[in-house]
Amino acid sequence: MAVISFANVKGGAGKTTTALLLGMDLIRQGYSVAILDADPQGWIATWFALSPPNERFTVTSGVTTANLPGHLRRLHNSVDHILVDLSGAGDVLVALAAGLSDLVLVPVQGCALDGRGAARVLELIQYVESNARTRINHAVVLNRVSAIVTTNAIRNVMTMLAGRGVPMLQTAIVERRVYRDLFDHGGFLHELDEAKVSNLAQARMNAESFSDEVQALLISGQEASLAAPYARFCYQRESRSNLAAHAV
Ligand SMILES: Nc1ncnc2c1ncn2[C@@H]1O[C@H](COP(=O)(O)OP(=O)(O)OP(=O)(O)O)[C@@H](O)[C@H]1O
Ligand SMILES: [Mg+2]
Repeated sequence: MAVISFANVKGGAGKTTTALLLGMDLIRQGYSVAILDADPQGWIATWFALSPPNERFTVTSGVTTANLPGHLRRLHNSVDHILVDLSGAGDVLVALAAGLSDLVLVPVQGCALDGRGAARVLELIQYVESNARTRINHAVVLNRVSAIVTTNAIRNVMTMLAGRGVPMLQTAIVERRVYRDLFDHGGFLHELDEAKVSNLAQARMNAESFSDEVQALLISGQEASLAAPYARFCYQRESRSNLAAHAV
C-alpha cells in the first residue's frame, strides 16, 4: 500500500488531473485505488459520479487536517493505493499529508507563478524533514507541456528547480483535450473509444509512462520505514485501539 499526495499551493497546477490520471492507470493495472479529495470544489467526486461504476475505485470527499489520519487508518489495509488530492490552500494539511505520504508529487505548469507555488510546497517538505529528522520522498512533475515544443517558460522552471536539487519526473504530462474533457464526461482513459477521441493513444501512453515512473519511485522495506514520518504514529494508534477493542 502506498499513500501518494498531490500538492501545489498554486491553484490550477494540475493536482486533480495528475491524481486522476494516476488513479485511472493504477485501476487499468488491476490495483484498487482510493482517492481522498481535500479540494472543496470536489472535481474528482464530479468525475466519479459521471463514470461507470468500478468496485476497485472509491472517492472520499471532505478530507481535512482533522480527518485525514482517520481515513488513512480506515483504508490502509483494504486498498492498494491511496491518492490524496490536496487543495490549493492550507499549509497545515499539506504538511500533514506530506508527513503521512510515501510520495508527494508536485505538479508544476511551465510558468513562473506555478514555480513559486511549488517552491512553497518544497519549503514545507524541507521544514517537516528537518523537524522530524527524516526524508520525504517527493518529485516535481511538469504538467500541460506542449506535445510539440518546449517553451522558454518550461525551461526556466526546470532550471530553477534543478538548481535547488529538486527531484523531477522525466515524464511530463502533455496538454491534452481529453484530460480536460474527462471532468465533463467522466469515464476511464483506457475505456474511452479511440474513434471518438482524438490523440487518445498518445494520451494513454503519456499517462502510462507517468504511472510507471511514479510506481518506480515508491520505496519499500527498510528505506520506506524512514520516510513518511507521521505514518507510524497514525497506524500505531490503530493497532493499539484494535488491541483495546479485542481486550474488552
Ligand atoms: N495536462 C492537461 N491537459 C489539459 N488540461 C489540463 C491539464 N492539466 C490540467 N488541465 C486543466 O487545467 C485546469 C486546472 O487543473 P486541475 O484542476 O488539475 O488543477 P489543480 O491543481 O487541481 O487546481 P486546484 O488548485 O483548483 O485544485 C482544469 O480545467 C484541468 O482540466
Ligand atoms: Mg484540484
